[in-house]
Amino acid sequence: MYALPLLALPALASALFVPRVPVAYYDPNANGGSMLDSVGSSGLGEPLNIILSGLSSPAVLTDAGVLNYARAIGFSEECFGIHQGGPQTANLGDGNGYTDQLVELRQDYGSAGVGTCLESLVGGNHFRIWRQNGTEANSGALFFATSQEEDVTEHHTIVPDGYNIGRDLLAQAAVGTTSYGGVTYNTVANNVTGLLKPGVEGVNHNISTDGITTILTVTIQ
Ligand SMILES: *[C@@H]1O[C@H](CO)[C@@H](O)[C@H](O)[C@H]1NC(C)=O
Ligand SMILES: *[C@@H]1O[C@H](CO)[C@@H](O)[C@H](O)[C@H]1NC(C)=O
Ligand SMILES: *[C@@H]1O[C@H](CO)[C@@H](O)[C@H](O)[C@H]1NC(C)=O
Repeated sequence: MYALPLLALPALASALFVPRVPVAYYDPNANGGSMLDSVGSSGLGEPLNIILSGLSSPAVLTDAGVLNYARAIGFSEECFGIHQGGPQTANLGDGNGYTDQLVELRQDYGSAGVGTCLESLVGGNHFRIWRQNGTEANSGALFFATSQEEDVTEHHTIVPDGYNIGRDLLAQAAVGTTSYGGVTYNTVANNVTGLLKPGVEGVNHNISTDGITTILTVTIQ
């Protein structure tokens, strides 16, 4: 009497959970997506210049996991939830179309919570995150639009060359061994070209990108 449900369990489980094939990321351009996000009706976007690889430890790629990781490399949530930039959307070519950013994180100047208020006043590095998890390209990778901003009196405009600078500063802070909340991370970076088109075409603020995307692979120790 109990044998049937027990035998049926594995089949049920495999029908419910389609396993993800481990892959670093899928190129959004290959399936109608873009490596530029969308800032609104202007038709312009900001470069998705960092990818947190789908080959990272799975716990880093969850919502809570990436927030803890961000704190380990010097970022936290926006100052008391005050959100000065409008939310942006991105299409990662995974079949989900344009979706809102998961979260926007700012450099925390060494004090998670209060430091982001400082960033809001003096400017600094910040990034927005999207997850590539639609059924047509389910890498689980997180795509970051990273930029370096002016202070609040400049209304959070991006500094000259701010996309490339923001990317490089984030990567520099991330590479090697970092830790937060009892979790220790080892991060390896490598650069790829061919995802993001170099130049200013379609790019917000008329600020050029060098066309490099930095891939971060994060392993929990
Ligand atoms: C994909 O990621 C989005 C954004 O985090 C999340 O809301 C959604 O539940 C995820 N989908 C699956 C199938 O895990
Ligand atoms: C990636 O490219 C940037 C810009 O040229 C460079 O500063 C950085 O060192 C490169 N990172 C790696 C891991 O090659
Ligand atoms: C973008 O910047 C270039 C070079 O600085 C300038 O020649 C061009 O007029 C600018 N375009 C816009 C739309 O601001």
